[in-house]
Amino acid sequence: MGHGIAEVAAISGMEVKLIDVSWDILNRAKERMTDSLKRLYERGVIKDSPDSIMSLIEMSVSYDVAKSVDFAIEAVPEILDLKRKVFNELDKVVPKESILATNTSSIPISDVAETTSRKQKVIGMHFFNPPPLMKLVEVIPSKYTSEETVDFTVDLSKKMGKTPVRLRVEVPGFVSNRIFLRLLQEACREVEAGEATIEEVDSTARNKLNLPMGIFELADYVGLDVVVDLWKVIVERGASDVKCSSFKRKVEAKELGVKTGKGFYTYPSPGKYSKVKLPQESRLKPERLISLAVNEGAWLIENDIVNAHEIDTVMKLGFNFPKGIMEMADSLGLENIVNNLKGIYNLGYKAYEPNPILLNMVSSGAKFYKA
Ligand code: CAA
Repeated sequence: MGHGIAEVAAISGMEVKLIDVSWDILNRAKERMTDSLKRLYERGVIKDSPDSIMSLIEMSVSYDVAKSVDFAIEAVPEILDLKRKVFNELDKVVPKESILATNTSSIPISDVAETTSRKQKVIGMHFFNPPPLMKLVEVIPSKYTSEETVDFTVDLSKKMGKTPVRLRVEVPGFVSNRIFLRLLQEACREVEAGEATIEEVDSTARNKLNLPMGIFELADYVGLDVVVDLWKVIVERGASDVKCSSFKRKVEAKELGVKTGKGFYTYPSPGKYSKVKLPQESRLKPERLISLAVNEGAWLIENDIVNAHEIDTVMKLGFNFPKGIMEMADSLGLENIVNNLKGIYNLGYKAYEPNPILLNMVSSGAKFYKA
Protein backbone atom coordinates (compact mmCIF):
# COMPACT_ATOMS: atom_id res chain seq x y z
CA MET A 1 0.00 0.00 0.00
CA GLY A 2 2.83 2.38 0.86
CA HIS A 3 4.29 2.50 -2.61
CA GLY A 4 0.81 2.85 -4.15
CA ILE A 5 0.08 5.87 -1.93
CA ALA A 6 3.49 7.37 -2.77
CA GLU A 7 2.71 6.88 -6.46
CA VAL A 8 -0.68 8.64 -6.15
CA ALA A 9 0.91 11.59 -4.32
CA ALA A 10 3.61 11.92 -6.98
CA ILE A 11 1.03 11.69 -9.80
CA SER A 12 -0.66 14.70 -8.17
CA GLY A 13 2.64 16.60 -8.40
CA MET A 14 3.74 16.32 -4.77
CA GLU A 15 7.31 15.69 -3.67
CA VAL A 16 7.43 12.35 -1.84
CA LYS A 17 9.89 10.77 0.58
CA LEU A 18 9.36 7.02 0.73
CA ILE A 19 10.84 5.31 3.79
CA ASP A 20 11.14 1.58 4.40
CA VAL A 21 13.34 -0.77 6.40
CA SER A 22 15.52 -2.12 3.56
CA TRP A 23 16.75 -1.27 0.08
CA ASP A 24 15.43 -4.62 -1.11
CA ILE A 25 11.91 -3.53 -0.27
CA LEU A 26 12.46 -0.03 -1.67
CA ASN A 27 13.81 -1.39 -4.95
CA ARG A 28 10.79 -3.65 -5.28
CA ALA A 29 8.56 -0.66 -4.55
CA LYS A 30 10.35 1.29 -7.29
CA GLU A 31 9.75 -1.51 -9.80
CA ARG A 32 6.06 -1.71 -8.90
CA MET A 33 5.53 2.07 -9.08
CA THR A 34 7.30 2.24 -12.44
CA ASP A 35 5.26 -0.65 -13.81
CA SER A 36 2.00 0.87 -12.60
CA LEU A 37 2.89 4.34 -13.98
CA LYS A 38 3.72 2.82 -17.37
CA ARG A 39 0.33 1.12 -17.48
CA LEU A 40 -1.45 4.36 -16.54
CA TYR A 41 0.61 6.30 -19.13
CA GLU A 42 -0.15 3.79 -21.91
CA ARG A 43 -3.87 4.05 -21.14
CA GLY A 44 -3.70 7.86 -21.22
CA VAL A 45 -4.77 8.11 -17.55
CA ILE A 46 -1.69 10.24 -16.77
CA LYS A 47 -0.08 12.82 -19.05
CA ASP A 48 3.36 13.16 -17.41
CA SER A 49 5.91 10.48 -18.24
CA PRO A 50 6.60 7.74 -15.66
CA ASP A 51 10.21 8.99 -15.39
CA SER A 52 9.20 12.55 -14.54
CA ILE A 53 6.73 11.31 -11.90
CA MET A 54 9.31 8.92 -10.43
CA SER A 55 11.76 11.84 -10.14
CA LEU A 56 9.47 13.32 -7.45
CA ILE A 57 9.99 10.28 -5.22
CA GLU A 58 13.06 10.09 -3.01
CA MET A 59 13.60 6.77 -1.24
CA SER A 60 15.38 6.20 2.05
CA VAL A 61 15.92 3.73 4.87
CA SER A 62 16.32 6.63 7.31
CA TYR A 63 13.67 8.83 8.92
CA ASP A 64 15.92 11.87 8.34
CA VAL A 65 14.32 12.59 4.96
CA ALA A 66 11.03 13.29 6.78
CA LYS A 67 12.39 16.36 8.56
CA SER A 68 10.80 18.84 6.14
CA VAL A 69 7.52 17.13 5.18
CA ASP A 70 4.09 18.79 5.56
CA PHE A 71 2.23 15.51 5.88
CA ALA A 72 3.31 11.95 6.71
CA ILE A 73 1.38 8.76 5.97
CA GLU A 74 2.32 5.52 7.72
CA ALA A 75 1.50 2.17 6.04
CA VAL A 76 3.23 -0.55 8.09
CA PRO A 77 1.54 -3.88 9.04
CA GLU A 78 -1.46 -3.90 11.37
CA ILE A 79 0.46 -4.37 14.61
CA LEU A 80 -0.30 -1.67 17.15
CA ASP A 81 3.17 -1.75 18.80
CA LEU A 82 4.85 -1.41 15.41
CA LYS A 83 2.60 1.51 14.45
CA ARG A 84 3.35 3.20 17.76
CA LYS A 85 7.08 2.74 17.22
CA VAL A 86 6.85 4.34 13.77
CA PHE A 87 4.74 7.21 15.13
CA ASN A 88 7.29 7.84 17.89
CA GLU A 89 10.01 8.14 15.25
CA LEU A 90 7.88 10.38 13.02
CA ASP A 91 6.91 12.54 15.97
CA LYS A 92 10.61 13.19 16.67
CA VAL A 93 11.57 14.03 13.07
CA VAL A 94 8.55 15.55 11.29
CA PRO A 95 8.01 19.32 11.85
CA LYS A 96 5.72 19.99 14.82
CA GLU A 97 3.07 21.75 12.69
CA SER A 98 2.77 18.83 10.23
CA ILE A 99 0.08 16.15 10.31
CA LEU A 100 0.77 12.45 10.92
CA ALA A 101 -1.70 10.11 9.22
CA THR A 102 -2.07 6.36 9.50
CA ASN A 103 -3.29 4.17 6.65
CA THR A 104 -4.38 1.56 9.18
CA SER A 105 -7.25 -0.55 7.93
CA SER A 106 -8.75 -1.23 11.33
CA ILE A 107 -6.80 -0.01 14.38
CA PRO A 108 -8.47 2.89 16.26
CA ILE A 109 -6.64 6.14 15.52
CA SER A 110 -6.70 7.24 19.19
CA ASP A 111 -4.54 4.20 20.11
CA VAL A 112 -1.86 5.45 17.71
CA ALA A 113 -2.28 9.18 18.46
CA GLU A 114 -1.73 8.68 22.21
CA THR A 115 1.90 7.79 21.65
CA THR A 116 2.71 11.19 20.08
CA SER A 117 3.09 14.73 21.43
CA ARG A 118 0.60 16.03 18.81
CA LYS A 119 -2.59 14.00 19.33
CA GLN A 120 -4.75 16.66 17.66
CA LYS A 121 -2.64 16.36 14.51
CA VAL A 122 -2.99 12.58 14.10
CA ILE A 123 -5.65 11.18 11.77
CA GLY A 124 -6.68 8.08 9.83
CA MET A 125 -6.35 8.26 6.05
CA HIS A 126 -7.35 4.90 4.64
CA PHE A 127 -6.56 4.09 1.00
CA PHE A 128 -7.71 1.10 -1.06
CA ASN A 129 -5.76 -1.35 -3.13
CA PRO A 130 -4.57 -0.59 -5.76
CA PRO A 131 -4.34 3.07 -4.68
CA PRO A 132 -3.76 4.43 -8.20
CA LEU A 133 -7.11 2.99 -9.35
CA MET A 134 -9.39 3.14 -6.31
CA LYS A 135 -11.11 6.48 -5.79
CA LEU A 136 -11.96 6.28 -2.10
CA VAL A 137 -10.17 7.58 0.97
CA GLU A 138 -11.79 7.08 4.37
CA VAL A 139 -10.92 9.97 6.67
CA ILE A 140 -11.11 8.96 10.33
CA PRO A 141 -10.69 11.53 13.09
CA SER A 142 -9.84 10.17 16.53
CA LYS A 143 -11.37 11.61 19.71
CA TYR A 144 -8.36 13.99 19.80
CA THR A 145 -8.17 15.12 16.15
CA SER A 146 -8.76 18.84 15.53
CA GLU A 147 -11.22 20.10 12.90
CA GLU A 148 -8.32 21.83 11.17
CA THR A 149 -6.53 18.48 10.78
CA VAL A 150 -9.70 16.87 9.38
CA ASP A 151 -10.24 19.72 6.89
CA PHE A 152 -6.61 19.58 5.73
CA THR A 153 -6.81 15.80 5.22
CA VAL A 154 -10.12 16.00 3.34
CA ASP A 155 -8.59 18.67 1.12
CA LEU A 156 -5.39 16.69 0.57
CA SER A 157 -7.43 13.60 -0.40
CA LYS A 158 -9.19 15.69 -3.05
CA LYS A 159 -5.85 17.07 -4.29
CA MET A 160 -4.75 13.44 -4.69
CA GLY A 161 -7.77 12.88 -6.96
CA LYS A 162 -9.70 10.87 -4.36
CA THR A 163 -13.22 11.09 -2.93
CA PRO A 164 -13.03 11.34 0.87
CA VAL A 165 -15.71 9.84 3.13
CA ARG A 166 -15.44 11.21 6.64
CA LEU A 167 -16.58 9.09 9.58
CA ARG A 168 -18.40 10.99 12.32
CA VAL A 169 -17.14 8.66 15.06
CA GLU A 170 -14.11 6.40 14.93
CA VAL A 171 -14.96 2.74 14.98
CA PRO A 172 -12.56 -0.23 14.62
CA GLY A 173 -12.40 -1.34 10.97
CA PHE A 174 -14.12 1.89 9.89
CA VAL A 175 -16.93 1.44 7.38
CA SER A 176 -15.02 -0.39 4.65
CA ASN A 177 -13.49 -3.19 6.63
CA ARG A 178 -16.45 -3.73 8.94
CA ILE A 179 -18.54 -4.44 5.85
CA PHE A 180 -15.69 -6.39 4.20
CA LEU A 181 -15.23 -8.47 7.38
CA ARG A 182 -18.93 -9.45 7.33
CA LEU A 183 -18.64 -10.56 3.70
CA LEU A 184 -15.55 -12.60 4.61
CA GLN A 185 -17.25 -14.13 7.62
CA GLU A 186 -20.35 -15.21 5.71
CA ALA A 187 -18.20 -16.51 2.82
CA CYS A 188 -16.12 -18.53 5.28
CA ARG A 189 -19.16 -19.80 7.18
CA GLU A 190 -20.83 -20.92 3.93
CA VAL A 191 -17.79 -22.99 2.99
CA GLU A 192 -17.09 -24.47 6.42
CA ALA A 193 -20.77 -25.35 6.90
CA GLY A 194 -20.70 -27.12 3.53
CA GLU A 195 -23.41 -24.86 2.09
CA ALA A 196 -21.24 -23.79 -0.88
CA THR A 197 -17.72 -24.22 -2.24
CA ILE A 198 -15.16 -21.41 -2.41
CA GLU A 199 -15.73 -21.21 -6.16
CA GLU A 200 -19.52 -21.05 -5.70
CA VAL A 201 -19.22 -18.20 -3.19
CA ASP A 202 -17.04 -16.31 -5.64
CA SER A 203 -19.28 -17.13 -8.57
CA THR A 204 -22.25 -15.64 -6.71
CA ALA A 205 -20.19 -12.54 -5.93
CA ARG A 206 -18.98 -12.04 -9.47
CA ASN A 207 -21.81 -13.41 -11.59
CA LYS A 208 -24.90 -12.59 -9.51
CA LEU A 209 -23.82 -9.45 -7.66
CA ASN A 210 -21.50 -8.30 -10.48
CA LEU A 211 -18.65 -7.54 -8.06
CA PRO A 212 -15.24 -7.14 -9.74
CA MET A 213 -13.80 -10.01 -7.68
CA GLY A 214 -15.11 -12.96 -5.68
CA ILE A 215 -14.86 -12.69 -1.87
CA PHE A 216 -12.02 -15.25 -1.56
CA GLU A 217 -10.38 -13.78 -4.66
CA LEU A 218 -10.49 -10.32 -3.09
CA ALA A 219 -9.09 -11.71 0.16
CA ASP A 220 -6.19 -13.20 -1.83
CA TYR A 221 -5.72 -9.85 -3.55
CA VAL A 222 -5.69 -7.87 -0.29
CA GLY A 223 -3.42 -10.44 1.42
CA LEU A 224 -4.64 -13.17 3.76
CA ASP A 225 -2.34 -11.95 6.53
CA VAL A 226 -3.99 -8.53 6.27
CA VAL A 227 -7.43 -10.19 6.35
CA VAL A 228 -6.58 -12.20 9.49
CA ASP A 229 -5.14 -9.08 11.16
CA LEU A 230 -8.14 -6.88 10.43
CA TRP A 231 -10.55 -9.65 11.49
CA LYS A 232 -8.69 -9.97 14.80
CA VAL A 233 -8.51 -6.22 15.44
CA ILE A 234 -12.21 -5.65 14.79
CA VAL A 235 -13.41 -8.68 16.78
CA GLU A 236 -11.04 -8.04 19.71
CA ARG A 237 -12.51 -4.55 19.96
CA GLY A 238 -16.08 -5.72 20.34
CA ALA A 239 -17.58 -6.86 17.02
CA SER A 240 -19.25 -10.26 17.20
CA ASP A 241 -17.19 -13.14 15.81
CA VAL A 242 -18.12 -15.96 13.47
CA LYS A 243 -16.01 -19.02 14.22
CA CYS A 244 -14.16 -19.86 11.05
CA SER A 245 -10.60 -21.03 10.48
CA SER A 246 -10.03 -21.14 6.68
CA PHE A 247 -8.21 -17.79 6.55
CA LYS A 248 -6.02 -18.54 9.57
CA ARG A 249 -5.04 -21.94 8.16
CA LYS A 250 -3.88 -20.34 4.91
CA VAL A 251 -1.72 -17.85 6.80
CA GLU A 252 -0.23 -20.65 8.94
CA ALA A 253 0.68 -22.44 5.69
CA LYS A 254 2.30 -19.17 4.48
CA GLU A 255 -0.10 -19.03 1.57
CA LEU A 256 -0.91 -15.32 1.74
CA GLY A 257 -2.67 -14.83 -1.59
CA VAL A 258 -1.47 -12.88 -4.62
CA LYS A 259 1.68 -11.62 -2.86
CA THR A 260 3.03 -15.19 -2.42
CA GLY A 261 1.51 -16.50 -5.66
CA LYS A 262 -0.88 -18.82 -3.78
CA GLY A 263 -3.82 -18.40 -1.46
CA PHE A 264 -7.27 -19.82 -2.07
CA TYR A 265 -6.30 -19.70 -5.75
CA THR A 266 -2.98 -19.94 -7.59
CA TYR A 267 -1.55 -16.91 -9.44
CA PRO A 268 1.02 -16.70 -12.28
CA SER A 269 3.85 -15.58 -9.92
CA PRO A 270 4.23 -13.88 -6.51
CA GLY A 271 2.76 -10.37 -6.73
CA LYS A 272 1.10 -10.97 -10.10
CA TYR A 273 -2.70 -11.03 -10.02
CA SER A 274 -4.75 -12.56 -12.79
CA LYS A 275 -8.52 -12.98 -12.73
CA VAL A 276 -9.51 -16.41 -11.40
CA LYS A 277 -11.70 -18.80 -13.42
CA LEU A 278 -15.06 -19.52 -11.80
CA PRO A 279 -18.07 -21.71 -12.56
CA GLN A 280 -21.17 -19.95 -13.91
CA GLU A 281 -23.52 -21.80 -11.54
CA SER A 282 -23.72 -21.52 -7.75
CA ARG A 283 -26.09 -22.78 -5.04
CA LEU A 284 -25.55 -19.63 -2.99
CA LYS A 285 -28.15 -16.88 -3.20
CA PRO A 286 -26.79 -13.30 -3.34
CA GLU A 287 -29.12 -12.12 -0.54
CA ARG A 288 -27.59 -14.77 1.76
CA LEU A 289 -24.01 -13.77 0.90
CA ILE A 290 -24.59 -10.07 1.68
CA SER A 291 -26.99 -10.52 4.62
CA LEU A 292 -24.41 -10.12 7.40
CA ALA A 293 -22.80 -7.15 5.62
CA VAL A 294 -26.17 -5.40 5.32
CA ASN A 295 -26.77 -6.07 9.03
CA GLU A 296 -23.43 -4.36 9.74
CA GLY A 297 -24.48 -1.42 7.55
CA ALA A 298 -27.63 -1.10 9.66
CA TRP A 299 -25.45 -1.11 12.79
CA LEU A 300 -23.30 1.72 11.36
CA ILE A 301 -26.46 3.73 10.65
CA GLU A 302 -27.95 2.95 14.07
CA ASN A 303 -24.77 4.26 15.73
CA ASP A 304 -24.73 7.43 13.59
CA ILE A 305 -21.29 6.70 12.15
CA VAL A 306 -22.36 7.15 8.52
CA ASN A 307 -25.62 7.03 6.55
CA ALA A 308 -26.71 4.49 3.89
CA HIS A 309 -25.52 6.72 1.08
CA GLU A 310 -22.04 7.03 2.64
CA ILE A 311 -21.82 3.25 3.15
CA ASP A 312 -22.61 2.79 -0.51
CA THR A 313 -20.04 5.39 -1.59
CA VAL A 314 -17.43 3.44 0.39
CA MET A 315 -18.35 0.16 -1.30
CA LYS A 316 -18.56 1.65 -4.80
CA LEU A 317 -15.37 3.72 -4.69
CA GLY A 318 -13.30 1.59 -2.29
CA PHE A 319 -14.17 -1.85 -3.71
CA ASN A 320 -15.51 -0.98 -7.19
CA PHE A 321 -18.91 -2.51 -6.40
CA PRO A 322 -21.31 -1.65 -9.24
CA LYS A 323 -23.96 -0.76 -6.64
CA GLY A 324 -23.72 -0.03 -2.93
CA ILE A 325 -24.45 -2.82 -0.48
CA MET A 326 -27.54 -1.08 0.97
CA GLU A 327 -28.83 -0.40 -2.53
CA MET A 328 -28.31 -4.11 -3.32
CA ALA A 329 -30.27 -4.98 -0.18
CA ASP A 330 -33.14 -2.80 -1.38
CA SER A 331 -33.30 -4.53 -4.72
CA LEU A 332 -32.85 -8.08 -3.38
CA GLY A 333 -35.54 -7.39 -0.77
CA LEU A 334 -34.96 -6.47 2.87
CA GLU A 335 -37.34 -9.23 3.90
CA ASN A 336 -35.10 -11.79 2.15
CA ILE A 337 -32.06 -10.33 3.89
CA VAL A 338 -33.75 -10.56 7.29
CA ASN A 339 -35.01 -14.10 6.65
CA ASN A 340 -31.47 -15.24 5.86
CA LEU A 341 -30.14 -13.54 8.99
CA LYS A 342 -32.82 -15.19 11.14
CA GLY A 343 -32.18 -18.58 9.55
CA ILE A 344 -28.42 -18.46 10.21
CA TYR A 345 -28.97 -16.98 13.70
CA ASN A 346 -31.20 -19.94 14.51
CA LEU A 347 -28.33 -22.26 13.58
CA GLY A 348 -26.47 -20.79 16.57
CA TYR A 349 -24.49 -17.93 14.95
CA LYS A 350 -25.11 -15.03 17.33
CA ALA A 351 -23.53 -12.41 14.99
CA TYR A 352 -26.51 -12.78 12.66
CA GLU A 353 -29.11 -11.36 15.04
CA PRO A 354 -31.03 -8.93 12.80
CA ASN A 355 -30.49 -5.25 13.61
CA PRO A 356 -33.66 -3.46 14.86
CA ILE A 357 -33.39 -0.99 11.97
CA LEU A 358 -33.82 -3.84 9.48
CA LEU A 359 -36.68 -5.40 11.44
CA ASN A 360 -38.51 -2.04 11.61
CA MET A 361 -37.95 -1.38 7.93
CA VAL A 362 -39.34 -4.78 6.98
CA SER A 363 -42.44 -4.32 9.13
CA SER A 364 -43.09 -0.84 7.71
CA GLY A 365 -42.16 -1.79 4.13
CA ALA A 366 -39.41 0.88 4.01
CA LYS A 367 -36.31 0.85 1.78
CA PHE A 368 -32.92 2.52 2.39
CA TYR A 369 -33.24 4.71 -0.67
CA LYS A 370 -36.74 5.87 0.14
CA ALA A 371 -36.09 6.13 3.87
N1 CAA B 1 -1.68 0.40 -11.55
C1 CAA B 1 -2.03 0.76 -12.78
N2 CAA B 1 -2.90 0.06 -13.56
C2 CAA B 1 -3.39 -1.07 -13.05
C3 CAA B 1 -3.07 -1.52 -11.74
C4 CAA B 1 -2.17 -0.74 -10.98
N3 CAA B 1 -1.79 -1.07 -9.74
N4 CAA B 1 -3.74 -2.68 -11.50
C5 CAA B 1 -4.47 -2.95 -12.61
N5 CAA B 1 -4.26 -1.97 -13.53
C6 CAA B 1 -4.86 -1.88 -14.85
C7 CAA B 1 -4.53 -3.07 -15.72
O1 CAA B 1 -3.31 -2.89 -16.40
C8 CAA B 1 -5.69 -3.13 -16.68
O2 CAA B 1 -5.46 -2.20 -17.75
P1 CAA B 1 -5.99 -2.52 -19.24
O3 CAA B 1 -7.49 -2.52 -19.12
O4 CAA B 1 -5.46 -1.41 -20.04
O5 CAA B 1 -5.42 -3.85 -19.56
C9 CAA B 1 -6.86 -2.59 -15.84
O6 CAA B 1 -6.28 -1.91 -14.71
C10 CAA B 1 -7.73 -3.72 -15.35
O7 CAA B 1 -6.92 -4.67 -14.64
P2 CAA B 1 -6.97 -6.25 -14.88
O8 CAA B 1 -7.27 -6.54 -16.31
O9 CAA B 1 -5.72 -6.83 -14.29
O10 CAA B 1 -8.10 -6.84 -13.97
P3 CAA B 1 -9.55 -6.28 -13.58
O11 CAA B 1 -10.32 -5.86 -14.77
O12 CAA B 1 -10.12 -7.31 -12.68
O13 CAA B 1 -9.28 -4.99 -12.70
C11 CAA B 1 -9.08 -4.27 -10.46
C12 CAA B 1 -8.44 -5.05 -11.60
C13 CAA B 1 -9.22 -2.81 -10.81
C14 CAA B 1 -8.16 -4.42 -9.26
C15 CAA B 1 -10.53 -4.86 -10.20
O14 CAA B 1 -10.49 -6.26 -10.16
C16 CAA B 1 -11.14 -4.37 -8.92
O15 CAA B 1 -11.66 -3.28 -8.85
N6 CAA B 1 -11.13 -5.22 -7.85
C17 CAA B 1 -11.58 -4.86 -6.53
C18 CAA B 1 -10.44 -4.24 -5.78
C19 CAA B 1 -10.81 -3.89 -4.37
O16 CAA B 1 -11.85 -4.22 -3.87
N7 CAA B 1 -9.91 -3.17 -3.66
C20 CAA B 1 -10.10 -2.82 -2.28
C21 CAA B 1 -9.54 -3.89 -1.40
S1 CAA B 1 -9.76 -3.52 0.32
C22 CAA B 1 -8.48 -2.51 0.70
O17 CAA B 1 -7.60 -2.27 -0.06
C23 CAA B 1 -8.50 -1.87 2.03
C24 CAA B 1 -8.10 -2.64 3.19
O18 CAA B 1 -7.93 -2.04 4.23
C25 CAA B 1 -7.96 -4.10 3.20
